Amino acid sequence: MAGKAAATEEPALESLATPTGEWTRNIPLLGETLLFSSDPLRWSRERMAQHGPVFQSHLLGQPVVVVGDLANWQRALSAEFKHVEMWFPESFTLVSGAKATTGKEQHALQRKAIARAFEPDAMASYLPFMEQILRRYLDQWASQPNGVDLVAAGRKLGFEFAAALVLGRELDDQTRDELSAHYSTVLTAFFTVVVDLPFTTFGKAMASRNAIQAWIRENILDEALEYIKTREIPSGARRGILHSFLDVQSSDSVDDPATAQIIADAIQTTILAGNDTTATGMLSLLGMWPQLPQRVKDRLREEQDEVRRKYGDELSAKAMANMPYAMSTVKEVIRILPTAVGVWRNAIADFELGGKLIQKGSKMLLMTHPAHGSDPKMPSSDSLVPEHMDASNLEDCFQPERWLKDSTRPGLAVWGMGPHTCQGLPLFYQEAKMLLAILTRSYDVQNLSGPFEWMLMPMIKPKTPVTIQIKPR
Ligand code: HEM
Repeated sequence: MAGKAAATEEPALESLATPTGEWTRNIPLLGETLLFSSDPLRWSRERMAQHGPVFQSHLLGQPVVVVGDLANWQRALSAEFKHVEMWFPESFTLVSGAKATTGKEQHALQRKAIARAFEPDAMASYLPFMEQILRRYLDQWASQPNGVDLVAAGRKLGFEFAAALVLGRELDDQTRDELSAHYSTVLTAFFTVVVDLPFTTFGKAMASRNAIQAWIRENILDEALEYIKTREIPSGARRGILHSFLDVQSSDSVDDPATAQIIADAIQTTILAGNDTTATGMLSLLGMWPQLPQRVKDRLREEQDEVRRKYGDELSAKAMANMPYAMSTVKEVIRILPTAVGVWRNAIADFELGGKLIQKGSKMLLMTHPAHGSDPKMPSSDSLVPEHMDASNLEDCFQPERWLKDSTRPGLAVWGMGPHTCQGLPLFYQEAKMLLAILTRSYDVQNLSGPFEWMLMPMIKPKTPVTIQIKPR
């Protein structure tokens, strides 16, 4: 029996075919990169219909195995450290300073270093700060008679949240705008050719990376090293995510130059992890708001009335924990417009996935859009944009209710899965839920530009400029 069970679980690898695809018909070197980037949902669903959920492509100058359904995401990432390890394209590693954590032990230590920053008591302590930031932005936008640009607004708010919560302080306008612009430049080179010249995308991104590092060294590093010695936060600052990271650094290492570099890199990459993703989530919420079906807005309002009756006007931890419909609305937004395209992996063994042989050394991209599109909990569809993912028809597809019951709750790939699942997830949910709560209670958002389509890559944003107007109610 045991032999039989093992044989079903581990198919004979030599009998399996490698994933198939059609990239060889495409442009040499670039492969399918352009087609993929122009519309990742349609591109992947078209190929999945022909080759199955695990197929072969050629992206960013190399062969890549693409994984496009939730079941195979789950299977691949539950074998993290055994079959696969984290991997980033070279341009991403160089410009972000993020090194893919591949060893199990090293990864456990790295996760532990900031885990405390996302525990419930820490999350509760950020609430007043978050509310202060949100209200300041909403008031400022509401004072603009001609409205504000949606993408610029989302980017500003996303960077403000990321930087302020990592560092534990708000930055002055000029510093925030300069740093935010450098982070945006870094982002343009995540998937690009590595040619470090002043006029190339990569060269410009490296210059921005160096500017961010210099700013951290000049403005944050001394204070961070001092905190490791004294464990005291200076007056005027608050406890941020950074302090949890500093708490696990030994005071014996403060004078070691390597410690300074580790801290500078940790600050840069943690802000990076939260910046663009949060900005995209915020602008998706703000951009979708004017088109949300009235039934959704009515239910959000009923929930906020109930929360106020029970917990008063304060957006306390208790009040925030009792907004299941607002939480479901946030999840529905990021299900339809997934804020991360996917996760990259390197195969560290030969293994079977989706009935195909994945060979050791294969680079893999597990994609969120097709994973959400082919979710077995959703009505199945042959269309390249299934109805339940059609952001141009929110009246039909936007159903927060589906998140409230086990039997209809969708899967969500946007946070990754397995040991590397996003640590910032509770932070984003809290920020997004608070934005929805404040909008529902006090503001309306109008789209002054008329109907628009969403672009999914390289970041989610409208295909044409959109101006929104925030109006106090
Ligand atoms: C909408 C917002 C966000 C999205 C969609 C998102 C998405 C992701 C994804 C997909 C991963 C997994 C990467 C992989 O498996 O290769 C990840 C990891 C991570 N994220 Fe986020 N993220 C968001 C916000 C944040 C924020 C606000 C922070 C913190 C400030 C953060 C910190 C991290 C960290 C530290 C990891 C690494 C976890 C590990 O390797 O164990 N993220 N994120």
